Amino acid sequence: MTRPRLRATRAAARLGGWDTTDLGLLALGATLAAGALLYAGAAAACLLTGRPTPEGGILPAFAAVGRPGEPAGAWPHPEQLPGPVPYWAATLAVLALAAAVGFVAARSARHLLDRHDASADRTRLGSLPGLASRRELTTVAGERALRTRARHARPSQPATAPPTELGYLLGAAHGRDLWCSVEDSALLLGPPRMGKGLHVVIPWILDAPGAVVATSTRPDTLAVTHAHRATRGPVAVFDPQRLAGLPDGLRWSPVRGCQHPRFALVRARGLASGTGMHGSVSDADFWTGQTETALRCLLHAAALDDRRALDLYRWSLNPVLAEDAVTVLTRHRDAADGWADALDAIVHADPRTRDSVWLGVRQALAALADPHVLHALDPGPDDRFDPETFLTDRGTLYLLASAVSSGTSAPLVAALVEDITETARTLAARSPGARLDPPLLLALDEIANLTPLPSLPSLMAEGGGSGITTLAVLQSLAQARHRWGEHAADTIWDAATVKLVLGGLAKMRDLDDVSRLLGDIDETTRSQSRGHGGERSTTTSLRTVPVLPPAVLRTLPFGSAVLLLRHARPAIIDLAPWPSRPDAAALTAGQRRIEAATATAAAVGRGNSGQLAARDGAAR
Ligand SMILES: Nc1ncnc2c1ncn2[C@@H]1O[C@H](COP(=O)(O)OP(=O)(O)OP(=O)(O)O)[C@@H](O)[C@H]1O
Ligand SMILES: [Mg+2]
Repeated sequence: MTRPRLRATRAAARLGGWDTTDLGLLALGATLAAGALLYAGAAAACLLTGRPTPEGGILPAFAAVGRPGEPAGAWPHPEQLPGPVPYWAATLAVLALAAAVGFVAARSARHLLDRHDASADRTRLGSLPGLASRRELTTVAGERALRTRARHARPSQPATAPPTELGYLLGAAHGRDLWCSVEDSALLLGPPRMGKGLHVVIPWILDAPGAVVATSTRPDTLAVTHAHRATRGPVAVFDPQRLAGLPDGLRWSPVRGCQHPRFALVRARGLASGTGMHGSVSDADFWTGQTETALRCLLHAAALDDRRALDLYRWSLNPVLAEDAVTVLTRHRDAADGWADALDAIVHADPRTRDSVWLGVRQALAALADPHVLHALDPGPDDRFDPETFLTDRGTLYLLASAVSSGTSAPLVAALVEDITETARTLAARSPGARLDPPLLLALDEIANLTPLPSLPSLMAEGGGSGITTLAVLQSLAQARHRWGEHAADTIWDAATVKLVLGGLAKMRDLDDVSRLLGDIDETTRSQSRGHGGERSTTTSLRTVPVLPPAVLRTLPFGSAVLLLRHARPAIIDLAPWPSRPDAAALTAGQRRIEAATATAAAVGRGNSGQLAARDGAAR
């Protein structure tokens, strides 16, 4: 990028171009400064030994350097000066003090210059040709534009409602705040540690006007936002693997509601998504479909016969044990037609097919082998999670699971997200304007690392219209292609009406894709040449260059992003980190409390995990 180039030019301006006069003046200045310091040393020695300041100026101060054993002799009135020890001690102290002050001043100046460089770079980047102008950005993303859109997106809100009730702050450009509506769906693309949480995920969760579902593989977002969200509505943490270590996590039964075939279908789709068959196995769609069929039949049977998560786990271990579920589906009068036959066909298929399907079933429910997970999925009648109440009460639900690994509870997280979004869609369909109000925010951080949520493409495409704002956070487009497949990854990218791309992307195809999407501009270049006869000629040529080439995209500074908002031209914006909010001190205090609780719970939990296993074992 041009940043090093700017620096080099500045350095050349600072050091280059010195002529003899400049050097002479510099030498004179340095000599005077050194003399002044030496005189100050002698004066300090006099003051410290109770004498008046000596007469003579800087020349005797210089001369004294040549008489270290008797510095007073160099002065016109030697009786005014103390002996050599106090004289040199005070001079050395003054020189050391001056050196320290000079060092601090140089560091501060350098820091200020760096800051100036960074802000000049940003200003220059932000006004490159081909990027959206201030006026264009104000028209599509200014506060007035947000209020206009909110008449449809949130008709329940008065005209004076704060903007955070109507949309989400994206950042600022050309000195203006930029907003997107709750109707938008956003894709945030940035490699690890590039500030996705700091600048986008955390602020969006804090400001969300309605319910929030936030996924993560780490409790960092939870720690900052938990206390603030608790002032808005109920807060729950679904952390079956105890990654945050907080006690009293949410307990949710995957079987709940599955007596209705629709719920069983949706949940089975979520559970099967995490089985890792996407793209890596030939005929992956067929095997995933079979796994889904088996899972939906097992869930339906478990719900109809009032079974617990443990039964589901047992059935998943061995298709022979699942014959029990076939019997339930055959005998129960509320069982969906044909489901018993579907499960029977899988259970009695030829051993190779059956075992392949059951491998998927076992993977989807593998997390239940962990007693903590089983405990979290086996709620009592009083602590059942009800998605409908959660949505209407503006609740916040944090879903934590480790990244793709065997035994991760990610498939369960996917199933719970599917459960909530399905409930949100149903609620929206019954609401005025077919919209959920207040809208739901799905902050899907680390979602590709967790589980390829099957409904993400459709949520991005049409969730906004039903009052579901989706924020999908990905580390790269390559990651999305790997987890969802080429086609679905394209849908996710295309359907995002807000695309935020951070610096640091390293995959050439990703950088190329983004760069091409940002478009090209025509650049005029002039070159001068001299003919044989000495005549000068100027040639003007037109060439097409990308608005932001891959190299510039990759080196975008921390804290800025390329914004692609609906049909507007791209913009480079300054993101707003949560520590710069007015309520940052309260948020940090809340973060410390949660982190302390996490640490305490982790210490206690280490002692209790054996007890929990024993208690659950006894309950069985
Ligand atoms: N409160 C804070 N104040 C200042 N800097 C912070 C703060 N929190 C995080 N950072 C800095 O921002 C960097 C990125 O943090 P963040 O967790 O937002 O990145 P991320 O893109 O979400 O990373 P990951 O993909 O690993 O989750 C951190 O490495 C840290 O240096
Ligand atoms: Mg993060």
